[in-house]
Amino acid sequence: MCGIVGYIGDRNANEILIAGLRKLEYRGYDSAGVATIAPGTNQLQRVRAKGKLNNLAQKLEQQDAHAKPASIGIGHTRWATHGKPEEHNAHPHINTIGSLAVVQNGIIENYHVLREELKGRGHRFVTETDTEVIPHLISEFLSQNTLLEAVRIAVSKLEGAFAIAVLCADFADELIVVRQQAPLVIGLGEHENFFASDTPALVAYTRKILALDNGEIARLTSSGVEIYNFEGDRQRRSPQTLNWNPVLVEKQGFRHYMLKEIHEQPGVVRAGLASFVNEADRINLKLPDRILDQIQNVQILACGTSWHAALVGKYLLEQLVHIPTSVQYASEYRYAPPPNLPNTLVIGVTQSGETADTLAALDLAKSRGDRCLGITNRPESSIGRIADSILDTQAGIEIGVAATKTFMAQLLMFYLLALDLADRHQTMPPDAIKDMVIGLRQLPAHMERILESQERYIEQLAHSFTHTRDFIYLGRGVNFPIALEGALKLKEISYIHAEGYPAGEMKHGPIALLDEDVPVVAIATPGKVYEKVLSNAQEAKARDAQLIGVAPLEDPVANETFDHLLPVPIVDEILSPMLTVIPLQLMAYQIAAHRGLDVDQPRNLAKSVTVE
Ligand code: F6R
Repeated sequence: MCGIVGYIGDRNANEILIAGLRKLEYRGYDSAGVATIAPGTNQLQRVRAKGKLNNLAQKLEQQDAHAKPASIGIGHTRWATHGKPEEHNAHPHINTIGSLAVVQNGIIENYHVLREELKGRGHRFVTETDTEVIPHLISEFLSQNTLLEAVRIAVSKLEGAFAIAVLCADFADELIVVRQQAPLVIGLGEHENFFASDTPALVAYTRKILALDNGEIARLTSSGVEIYNFEGDRQRRSPQTLNWNPVLVEKQGFRHYMLKEIHEQPGVVRAGLASFVNEADRINLKLPDRILDQIQNVQILACGTSWHAALVGKYLLEQLVHIPTSVQYASEYRYAPPPNLPNTLVIGVTQSGETADTLAALDLAKSRGDRCLGITNRPESSIGRIADSILDTQAGIEIGVAATKTFMAQLLMFYLLALDLADRHQTMPPDAIKDMVIGLRQLPAHMERILESQERYIEQLAHSFTHTRDFIYLGRGVNFPIALEGALKLKEISYIHAEGYPAGEMKHGPIALLDEDVPVVAIATPGKVYEKVLSNAQEAKARDAQLIGVAPLEDPVANETFDHLLPVPIVDEILSPMLTVIPLQLMAYQIAAHRGLDVDQPRNLAKSVTVE
């Protein structure tokens, strides 16, 4: 959470900082700010604004249009942790004399102690943030040291997980950045250099990047980058070249990124299949044998939507491969890991690759001796440096804060993993595996039909829920996690309270909530539990609930049961989650859009949750 950017070169720094922050706004959008050094004056200039980035951009536009633009600067878009989202708490934060500015992404855990010590030595604090201690601390070491050295000494006193960038009027030709458990990437240009919390902010300028490791500090000038560890030893690193195109991070005519990403799902599934399944329908996950050999247990660590994908994964691994599988909230696993079992594969699932809880949980699993696999669409992210191997879901970057296509891609990886393991453990005959792969290949065309046929209908349906305050989602078996995911999508972006339950559990409590004001969404696809779900839906109907069914069009019983039908084609029940989730994503999107909400940047959320 929070996005940081920086630039040093010949161009207009403010323009580059604002453009970079726009690409990072998904990380936080409570307030934003930039600091630059006015050319020829060695004066630090700071502009900050509460609210969305446009407020900051407007403020910058109102500045003196005739002044020579600055060519060095740092910027920040905030997701508040310490201190309300007000302008005075917005980054950059400065030292008492206003000569040094700092932006930070993360949390300084010992800020309170440091702040009291610094106050005792005469430093004046004007914000409620943890970050403000950093410029004060650095300035204590500046008189005797270079900026790099002063930052290095100051950082040795900080506890927590953070990425920091420092700009100082007395060192007007350099920027210092630090990475400690929060992402930071440097972009290399010709006579100019950049940094950012994430690569989308860089791709418009360069695809040559250097990712800092934890415990590293770098000095950027317009002509080069030096990297050191926290002990001050110089580190050597070769740049990587990103193979993606800046167009990927544009809306391409869609009203919101989320809608674009929902529509990208058939393509994401095709790309995943093309990467991991050959023409003879054989799966090759390109993982070393030491990851998958002789697995007796699986533990999956994830948060939020990725946790829901993991629940589908558990269903598949247990039902198709008979491997006991547990799904842990990463934030719980960190402090209460289950007993260590031999031959355990631990899988971390994360779309951002940066979720602090998931990374820490995976680190813990690794320290317990488990082999660790990461499932992510961001192989270049931090999880890539922690896991022993990575399964790249091929979904590419996702910008909408509510995860859609990355969830779909995670699901596909679990299907392929389960089928690969079913082959290795001989728990399914080869023909059955092949049939399921063929079934997977047919899904993108089905998805396209759902998208084409339902968008208008769901847009209309959204009007019926203008004043709805609560929703219940029901699913069973492999579709129970989809009920959870449908409910999460709705609450995240429409701010309507929604809960998902296994349909059979409704009678054990949630049924008390039902009346004509609480719509019930039931996922009912032909298979083991179809009739059961239809009966559970009838129980809701008997309590006057409005019923929305994600169910096959062909079945007269489903047609009769539901007030509104969001049809999905009939496929093997076990594959159905990859279809049933789509109408639920569309419904959440249309309800939020109809309410005029900011679908891509819902309040209080961030795309990348890099704090605990
Ligand atoms: C939901 C959503 C969040 C994330 C969660 C984990 O739409 O985006 O619930 O799923 O914060 O994020 P990752 O997958 O990046 O670890």
